[in-house]
Amino acid sequence: MRILLTGRAGQVGWELERSLTPLGHVFAFDRASLDLANPDQIVGRVREVKPDLIVNAAAYTAVDRAESEPRLAMQINSAAPGILAEETKRLGALLVHYSTDYVFDGTKPSPYLETDTPNPINAYGRSKLEGERAIQGSGCRHLILRTSWIYGMRRNNFLLTILRLAREHPELRVVDDQIGAPTWCRDLATATAQIANQNANGKAEGLYHLSAAGATSWCGFAREILRVSGIDTPVRATSTNEYAALAKRPANSLLSGATIAARWRLQLPEWRNSLAICLRRSKLGHVVSEKGPE
Ligand SMILES: NC(=O)c1ccc[n+]([C@@H]2O[C@H](COP(=O)([O-])OP(=O)(O)OC[C@H]3O[C@@H](n4cnc5c(N)ncnc54)[C@H](OP(=O)(O)O)[C@@H]3O)[C@@H](O)[C@H]2O)c1
Repeated sequence: MRILLTGRAGQVGWELERSLTPLGHVFAFDRASLDLANPDQIVGRVREVKPDLIVNAAAYTAVDRAESEPRLAMQINSAAPGILAEETKRLGALLVHYSTDYVFDGTKPSPYLETDTPNPINAYGRSKLEGERAIQGSGCRHLILRTSWIYGMRRNNFLLTILRLAREHPELRVVDDQIGAPTWCRDLATATAQIANQNANGKAEGLYHLSAAGATSWCGFAREILRVSGIDTPVRATSTNEYAALAKRPANSLLSGATIAARWRLQLPEWRNSLAICLRRSKLGHVVSEKGPE
């Protein structure tokens, strides 16, 4: 199988390059070699590689910055996936794409199902929703995986930010009224490879929710990161209203994994278990001091 992967330098993309390798020949691109802001380059790369499978792990993920760059976010998160989808259809290939809990407004009191109506409350969420629609509207074979709260030991993410801040401040204040499921990028990449492999015969395409099992708040996540890391900086709970972010965030980010569990017999591990494994396997001090998050 020939596999075209975008976003190879991202959290999920980096893991995917490894998890997809057993499935075939992976042609992995970073922004420098395949810029999603350049439609001609997208078409050119896909036609050069002639993939059976395209996995789009590249995205505009700067949630706050998207408020001031909504057109760029839309171009990367909606127009580009639309072009990938057209090319996928032309080739009769399969497109795997990621979307987000931020397509929802977060007002539902229970985990979101795939059938719930999206209603994004920030520019990033709107751009990701348009990306889903562009893919669905193209008629290409596709799998859209909505996930949430991704972390790992590379790049910028909540986990690395908390580890850095805990070393710089005597106390942290973290939002406690937004709940979700922190998802380790490696779990998502491993599951993606499993699904793509099983779907070689086109068994089940469409849109699925796929995030870690369990639930916590950002505050609960921060406390667990520090507990497992043996750092005793206290974490005080604060509220969304007290924390001034440029973009609004949904209060409930929980995605029900019931559909994917039923269809694929697949469930990501409980977030706490994966966090412990992630932290244990990393040479923590080395990674954090070498590439501190913003
Ligand atoms: N992060 C989360 O919490 C979260 C939550 C829900 C869903 N998701 C979705 O999950 C997927 C993977 O996210 P992630 O956490 O792995 O994101 P990430 O770590 O921010 O990686 C995104 C990658 O996209 C690349 N990229 C950005 N603009 C590009 C462009 N114009 N052309 C080509 N590449 C470009 C980035 O390139 P550079 O390396 O050059 O920056 C980066 O390698 C995305 O679809 C995201 O929307 C993420």
